[in-house]
Amino acid sequence: MRTAIYPGSFDPATFGHLDIIRRSSKLFDHLIVAVLNNSAKKSLFSVEERVSMLKMLTADYSNVSVDSFEGLLVDYARRMEAGFLVRGLRAVSDFEYELQIAQTNHVECPGIDTIFLTTSLNYSYLSSTIVREFASYGGDIRQFVPAEIIPLIYGKYNIDKE
Ligand code: PNS
Repeated sequence: MRTAIYPGSFDPATFGHLDIIRRSSKLFDHLIVAVLNNSAKKSLFSVEERVSMLKMLTADYSNVSVDSFEGLLVDYARRMEAGFLVRGLRAVSDFEYELQIAQTNHVECPGIDTIFLTTSLNYSYLSSTIVREFASYGGDIRQFVPAEIIPLIYGKYNIDKE
């Protein structure tokens, strides 16, 4: 059984994240989308809200589950008996940081490998930060996130928009 973890903040999940989930779900028997519960970082959505949105957005994938974790990713991966971590690479600027984390995680836990998927070209500019910034000014985010979660995002900024 090949289990992989796709970790992240997902605050909120974007089409870029969903593209990585769709593609990596085909590579593994079980993919766990794991939301980092980091109380030190201020987030727009609570962990519970992010988990619930991701569950709704991945409901069609039978081998994808959604969870949250605290602490070190490698400790969580060991607990879940996952041999792989999945990360998306958008641009060269992502690479240096991701390489460092992947190498550190591998040193800490040699049984775990990080698999990088390059983000589809049409989402290479996209990030949760961009979505939050646009939404906070009432900007159009329909090309960034699924329709189901758009009202939830505007709601966080008290914006009433169709
Ligand atoms: O979506 P993000 O914010 O880019 O995801 C970052 C994440 C959650 C993958 C990363 O911050 C993480 O793994 N945090 C857990 C703590 C940890 O294991 N850090 C690694 C230090 S080398």
